[in-house]
Order: sequence, then structure tokens, then C-alpha cells
Amino acid sequence: MNKIKILLFVSLLLAITVGTATASELIDETEHEELIELGKQIFFDDDLSTPKGQSCASCHHPDVGFADPAQSRAVSQGAVPVRFGNRNSPTAAYAAYSPDFDYNETEQMYIGGQFWDGRAIDLAEQAKGPFLNPLEMNNPSKLAVVQKIIKSDYADLFEKVYGEGALDNVEEAYNQTAEAIAAFEMTDEVNRFSSKYDKSMAGEVKLTSQERKGLKLFNDPKKGNCAACHPSTAGLYSDKPLFTDFTYDNLGVPSNRGMMGDSPELMDYYPFYYPPIAPIFNPDGLDYVDYGLGALTGDDEMGMMKVPTLRNSAVTPPYTHNGAFMTLNEVVNFYNTRDVGEWPAPEVNINVNRDELGDLGLSDAEEDAIVAFLETLTDGYEET
Ligand code: HEC
Ligand code: HEC
Repeated sequence: MNKIKILLFVSLLLAITVGTATASELIDETEHEELIELGKQIFFDDDLSTPKGQSCASCHHPDVGFADPAQSRAVSQGAVPVRFGNRNSPTAAYAAYSPDFDYNETEQMYIGGQFWDGRAIDLAEQAKGPFLNPLEMNNPSKLAVVQKIIKSDYADLFEKVYGEGALDNVEEAYNQTAEAIAAFEMTDEVNRFSSKYDKSMAGEVKLTSQERKGLKLFNDPKKGNCAACHPSTAGLYSDKPLFTDFTYDNLGVPSNRGMMGDSPELMDYYPFYYPPIAPIFNPDGLDYVDYGLGALTGDDEMGMMKVPTLRNSAVTPPYTHNGAFMTLNEVVNFYNTRDVGEWPAPEVNINVNRDELGDLGLSDAEEDAIVAFLETLTDGYEET
């Protein structure tokens, strides 16, 4: 064999061994079986809030693409029922593929991180947030969380993974809790890549003609131009399409109040707007403006949010950072007609992307085809 042939042979062997060990690109699942099981137990444990009753899965449930099953509200309800967050729960699936938050000198832009504004550098950092967030799981301290884990039925597993006495050191145990969750979030169970679109790429099913038309419009820079930010092909971060490039943009999405008016549903999650509950968590109440990444980095990024994956979006309404849109049709219609239709003003009216969206000139049938294509991105597709 010449050198090239040997190289090819070796890489084929490698591909076969790696391929059979685990399909995941993020973690060797056979090597970290117990760590992953621990992370899963924590992710689904609804004793880990104060009061009890809320887990990570409460807002990131596998039945709805790891997003919030309560879909009629723009934002999520906390463990304390009168409290609501300021943002819409994104899917926790495929988040593991986001690179660490960083400024990319070549591209001259911020890329990656977790949350809509990238404020957590990676998954483990992200997972430390919700337990202590008064609008989410509302525990008073790290100690309180670790004490709950000590009482859980997976406390033994925790010590098996991290060593005897691991739960005695609160700071370290809290970090390990987050690390275990992150390990679970890296698995094939969370990142399934099992949509109709995946199966069509593998040649196992055929997209309908409407879905194929939607895909074409989605990719075409002169039509939907969606793939410019939501790539439909493999990229830097995965050998399968993620439908996000993890960059940041301001689409000019209206505030949720702008979209819904002062409807009872909206008032429902600004309860602190009314006395006697003190407006301590969101003092701006209904006038809250979300500056996204710019609140952390400065004027050039005001209003910018991280591009979300579109995988499972058909089952994860509402949409965008503030949940202002309730249906995919509405979102696509917004991209198509933002600058020529009747839309409320952008929530943050600076840095709005006027080059790539706003007046796409799509017909109703073309909008529908794009939505039909988005509906092929739901995991767990089975031919009927
Ligand atoms: C009360 C609902 C709620 C709970 C409980 C909750 N989350 Fe979230 N999650 C959200 C919201 C809202 C955001 C977006 C917040 C933001 O951008 O500031 C989010 C963001 C995330 C992200 C970032 C995804 C991305 O693409 O940037 C991940 C990952 C995540 N949550 C995992 C978790 C884990 C792990 C837990 C449990 C420790 C958890 N969440 C508990 C509502 C919740
Ligand atoms: C310039 C980059 C860019 C382009 C082009 C783009 N998007 Fe987006 N998309 C984003 C960003 C950024 C967000 C989040 C905006 C926010 O939360 O304010 C988003 C959000 C979405 C959402 C909401 C997802 C969720 O889970 O909340 C959908 C659906 C969507 N885009 C579909 C599309 C479609 C369809 C097209 C083409 C018609 C498109 N996008 C073109 C950047 C882009």
C-alpha cells in the first residue's frame, strides 16, 4: 500500500471504531456513563427548587424539544408562581454545540456562549444559574441546593462519580452538579438528530415537494436567506447541520407588549406591576427593554440576541427572546414583511439588521413552504 492508501485505511478504521463507540461528537458516552446518569437525575429532579416542584425539565422538557411545555405564555413561570422571567425559554437541546463565548477577531463579532445574550461561557457555567435565580428555581444558596442533593436518592451515585465525601465541599459539589448536567446535555438523548430532515439527508425518507420547495427558499440568498444565520448544512461546530451559527443579531423583534398589547395574558406575568407585590425583580415592569448582548458588551451590540437553533422549533412556541410570536407562520411573515407591513416598533431600535431581512418579497405560498420545511426539523420522526 502506498502512503495515501494507508492513511485512508487508518482513517476508515478510526471512523468505524469512533462510530460504534458513540454517535455523539461531544462526549464519549460509554466512558462517562455514570456521570451522564447523575446529570440526568439532577436535570429531572423537581425537588431542587424552593419551594419544591420545579426542575430544569420543567422549562426544558423532552416532549417539547427541551423547551417550556407551557406555550401560551411568552415567558416562563418560576418555582414561586407569581414570578416570571424576562425571557422565553430556549431549547436546551443542541446548546452543547455552541462554542465558548468569545470575540472572534477575524469575523469581528461575538460568537457562542449560552443564554440569549451569551452571558454564560459554556454549559456548566449556564447550569449554575437557574438553581439560584429567584425567577426560576429560587434556592437561597448553593448550600441549599447541595443539601437537597444529599437527601436525594442519587446521593450515592454522586459520591460514586466524584468520590466519597464529595458532597461535603459545597463549592466544589455545586460545580460538579453543573458539570454533570452539562455531560447529560451533551448526549445523543438530548441531541437526537432524528428529524425527517436528517432522515432525508440519510436517504431514508423523501421530503414532500412543498418541504423541498421550503428548503430551497430557506437556503436561497435571494429568497428567504435563512441559511445565512441558520445554516442547513454541516459546519464548524458539528458534522450535522445545527441551524445556527451561534452569532448575534438584532432582528428588530417588537416587545412582547408591543405584540400583545395589555392583554390579560400579558398582565399575568407582570404581577409585580400591581401592588402590593414589590417590583423588585423587574423594576421596569411592562416597560422593560431587553438590550441582549449589548447590555454586557456595549453600544455596538445593543438589541442583539444569539441565533437560536431551528431544530424542534415546530414544537417550541413561543418564539424569539421575548416570546413575542406564537406561531412559526407569524415569525416567517415578520421576516418577509417587517419593513413593508404593519408591525410594532422594534424593542431595541438600533443595530437592526436591515440588509438580510425585512422585505423578502415572498408569496403566501412561499411563506407556507418555509414553515413546512421548518416542521421537518422535529426530532423523533417516524414514517406514518
Ligand atoms: C423557570 C424556567 C427555567 C428553568 C427552571 C430552567 N431554565 Fe434554562 N432557560 C430558561 C430561560 C428563560 C432561558 C433563557 C434565559 C436568558 O437568555 O437569559 C434558559 C436558558 C437555558 C440554556 C441556554 C440555551 C441556549 O441556547 O443559550 C440552557 C442550556 C438551559 N437553560 C438549561 C437549563 C438547566 C440545566 C436548568 C436546570 C439547572 C434550567 N435550564 C432551568 C428557563 C428555565
Ligand atoms: C441575520 C441573521 C438571521 C437571518 C437571515 C434569519 N434569522 Fe432567524 N433568527 C435570528 C436571530 C438573531 C433570532 C433570535 C432573535 C431574537 O430573539 O430577538 C432568530 C430567531 C428565529 C426563530 C425563532 C426560534 C425560536 O426558537 O425562538 C425562527 C423560527 C427563525 N429565526 C427562522 C428564520 C427563518 C425562517 C429565516 C428566513 C426567512 C430566518 N430565521 C433568517 C437570526 C437570523
